[in-house]
Amino acid sequence: MAKVAIFASGSGSNFENIVQRADKGELNNIEITALYTDHHDAYCIERAKKLKVAVHINEPKDFASKAEYERRLIQLLELDEVEWIILAGYMRLIGPDLLDAYEGKILNIHPSLLPKYKGKDAIGQAFNSGDNITGSTVHYVDSGMDTGEIIEQRQCEIKEDDTKEDLEDRVKHLEYELYPSVVAKIIK
Ligand code: GRF
Repeated sequence: MAKVAIFASGSGSNFENIVQRADKGELNNIEITALYTDHHDAYCIERAKKLKVAVHINEPKDFASKAEYERRLIQLLELDEVEWIILAGYMRLIGPDLLDAYEGKILNIHPSLLPKYKGKDAIGQAFNSGDNITGSTVHYVDSGMDTGEIIEQRQCEIKEDDTKEDLEDRVKHLEYELYPSVVAKIIK
C-alpha cells in the first residue's frame, strides 16, 4: 500500500476527487497521508477537514530560504514514510532538494495539452488562442515549469460560444477522470 501526499495551493477540487476515489477503493489502496499546502487560507484546507485528511500548512515566507522550506517538507514526508507526491494545483516549482528526495515520484496535472500553454492561466491561454481543442496533461515533475515527461493527456473541445468559465468547467471534469486513472496506473 503506497503512501501518498497531495500538494495544493488553492481550491483543491482535484485533491478532493482523488481522496474520494481512494476512499472508494479505485486507487490500489493508496494511503493519502496528508494535504500539504503553502497558503494558510487556501480552500483545500476546508476540503481536507471535511474529508478528515491531515493538513500540513507551511508558508515559504516563514523560512529563511526555499531550500529550508523544502527541507521541512522532506522531514514531514519522511516521518509519514511518503513514497509519492501528487501535485494538484500546487503553484510552485519544486526545488532541487525535494526533487532529489523524490526523484521520479512526483506527478502533476496541468490544464492544457502540453507542451502547449505552460505556466499560469493555461486555460485562459487556450481560450484566447483560437484553438478548438484543449485538454489536460498528467506528467512527471522535473525542475522546469510543466516540462517533465508526459504520462497521459485527454482532450476536450473549445466551443465557439464558450465563456472562459465554461471551458474551465469542461477541463476540470476531464481532470477528475484523467488524474485518478493515471494515479491508478502508476502508483501501486
Ligand atoms: C487544475 O486545473 C490543475 O490542472 C492545475 O491547477 C488546477 C487545480 O484546480 N494544476 P483545483 O484546485 O484542483 O480545483
